[in-house]
Amino acid sequence: MRIHRKYTGLVAGAAAVSLLLAACSSGNNNNNATPGASSTAGAATQVEVFTWWTSGGEKAGLDGLVATLADKYPNVEFINGAVAGGAGSAAKDLLQSRLQANDPPDTFQAHAGMELNDYIQAGQVQDVSDLYTQFGLTDVFPQDLLDLLTVDGKIYSVPANIHRSNMVWANPTVLTDAGLDPAATYATMADWFVAMDAVQAAGQTALSVATTWTQVNLLETVLMADLGADGYVGLWDGTTDWAGSEMTAALQDFEKLISYTNTDRDGLDWPDAAQMVIDGTAAFNVMGDWAAGEFDAQGLTAGTDYIYFPVPGTDSMFGFLADSFTLPVGAPHADGAKAWLDVVGSLEGQTAFNVAKGSIPARTDADPSKFTEYQQGAIADFASKTIVPSLAHGAAAPTAVLTAISDAVSKFTTGGSDLATFQDELVAAVG
Ligand code: BGC
Repeated sequence: MRIHRKYTGLVAGAAAVSLLLAACSSGNNNNNATPGASSTAGAATQVEVFTWWTSGGEKAGLDGLVATLADKYPNVEFINGAVAGGAGSAAKDLLQSRLQANDPPDTFQAHAGMELNDYIQAGQVQDVSDLYTQFGLTDVFPQDLLDLLTVDGKIYSVPANIHRSNMVWANPTVLTDAGLDPAATYATMADWFVAMDAVQAAGQTALSVATTWTQVNLLETVLMADLGADGYVGLWDGTTDWAGSEMTAALQDFEKLISYTNTDRDGLDWPDAAQMVIDGTAAFNVMGDWAAGEFDAQGLTAGTDYIYFPVPGTDSMFGFLADSFTLPVGAPHADGAKAWLDVVGSLEGQTAFNVAKGSIPARTDADPSKFTEYQQGAIADFASKTIVPSLAHGAAAPTAVLTAISDAVSKFTTGGSDLATFQDELVAAVG
């Protein structure tokens, strides 16, 4: 599978894409687009939008969509159904309870790939293929992204963005104070450990991390770094042995990384760990590029106040995830939901949202000059790097597998298991 993207003013090379997710990609929608069709709200009066974007850059991004809704559909009232907790750590369980109680919101956030597939297989979301035709969306997203939203030729959500999971965010002053060159890059985990030793010797936390899902985000990047793109993708298509010695070595690196982190990690969420870098109490943080939105929301300047680079050993990879919005079965205000999906898919909505969120537009026709330097780099990287699916953010594995992996990670990092047991539990998790 390959994703080809072209942005205005940028030549998009063919990205070598390793997104598996074959279960989601059984059909294409080739309906003709109908540009300009945007007035479907009719008698709609409200739309309850369920996300986990409640503060900082995430809220600022949501606000961009809300402003676009007010502009395009002044008669649709926005009801904020957001539930705090990074990566949906609290929202997803609550959403599941609501769906099972036949009390769905009008639309909810779902990750493209295996997580969305769970909702589709459970019959919880509606086919929105017709809206692609109505809103002129059929040709504005990369076909391979559409494939991740499609089952049996039917498309089940509208993508809002594309995020990258494998980024390091760092404080240049902390690095300088530890005798390190902030411009240095690290080819391997081993090289990076040397820098972390220097930070520790200078009395600061080398690597900040937060609660379990952020540790899983960290783990996926170590697996990318140590197994390489093919080996990492093989974890999800069954061709890489979870019980093998390369996996053991990668888990040893993960254990070493955790040893550099703040001990209060389990009581923190991702903004707290990012804040440690901002405040200069930690040197590095591994996080998806919603961190860029957060830093920018705080008025910080990239290059001066913070720096960024791909996790050492993953420079050639783009850890892919995408937020998309659904039309749940039984949505009480379907017309309001359709208005929201129109906004989410629109050029205006994608620009307003992504500029603040740190992500890049899912649409291929957005103007890169409207985005930050980080985002312009991400747009170029998405076009040229090997695309690999994020585990922590629903692209690589079904929710049940992610939950089992997360449980194993939590047990290990809280001292409840040794490395061999951890590896056994991961083997069992992917079953
Ligand atoms: C979502 C992002 C969000 C991040 C942290 C990810 O799962 O895709 O939109 O910013 O979690 O909450």
